[in-house]
Amino acid sequence: MNYQWYPGHMMKAKRMMQENIKLIDLVIELVDARIPFSSRNPDIDELGKNKSRLILLNKSDLADEKCNKEWMAYFKQKGFHVLEINAKTGAGIKAIQGTVKEACREKIERDRKRGIINRPVRAIVVGIPNVGKSTFINSYAGKACAKTGNKPGVTKGKQWIRLNKELELLDTPGILWPKFESQDVGRKLAFIGSMNDEILQMTELAIDLIDFLMIYYKQLLIDRYQIPEKEEIPHKILEHICENRKCYKKGGEIDHEKGAALLLDDFRLGRIGRITLERPGEMA
Ligand code: G4P
Repeated sequence: MNYQWYPGHMMKAKRMMQENIKLIDLVIELVDARIPFSSRNPDIDELGKNKSRLILLNKSDLADEKCNKEWMAYFKQKGFHVLEINAKTGAGIKAIQGTVKEACREKIERDRKRGIINRPVRAIVVGIPNVGKSTFINSYAGKACAKTGNKPGVTKGKQWIRLNKELELLDTPGILWPKFESQDVGRKLAFIGSMNDEILQMTELAIDLIDFLMIYYKQLLIDRYQIPEKEEIPHKILEHICENRKCYKKGGEIDHEKGAALLLDDFRLGRIGRITLERPGEMA
């Protein structure tokens, strides 16, 4: 299957990002904890150079806890500030304030030397579609925060959310586009549902997912669908899933498409278990 996506919006999104990034001190980048490498666009490193950087491993509730720790260490080692969060429940969000201060320490110090005191840090949230940007902004900003409206020197129409006297957030997140450097990246984006399913062959995708799960999370698969221990052929495993979940066509024939959709749905919602699709060691 050939994974392709994102046609015309890319240039527009990039231009928007270039404009917005000039206004801010700190880039808060959300990545999907299940695919922290494939859900990044490395162009952000170029766009955000000279800015303070914070990476949030979002949807950490769906990802393997051990892998979350490995990815935290990986990004830290690359010089980023990093935290794991669940934007949906708000877990991990409390720790952000302290980390922001630390990430912006140099900027605050620079301001102070120039006699600028108490100017809030300005931040933008960026990430690929569906990574949880809006959920995060809502959860982080909460209801208590007032929008501050236009400010001098800020492009008309831009809204800042004042989180406290030290931090303001641009209310529109920056959309990054995934980078299809390889079919492998495309496949992982398809697994997590970051691609339009209508253009995908779901059965093939499900077989690929089973292939991966059999290597890293075999027991989770067996437990969820009561697959015989000795079964190792992905296509046969899909048939077991279909039987287990009664995915049949009218005449009683196995409905592979339905079983595939069910498996992908279960995976995306974390029903199979906490699963991470890539590890830092594989990314060299
Ligand atoms: P975006 O702005 O980056 O495009 O993403 P958005 O916030 O719209 O979130 C995309 C989906 O991811 C939403 O689900 C949202 O609830 C879910 N989500 C965001 N953060 C987390 C997280 O940390 N953990 C989990 N498990 N899910 C998260 P949806 O099904 O599209 O909407 P809804 O039914 O949840 O409202």
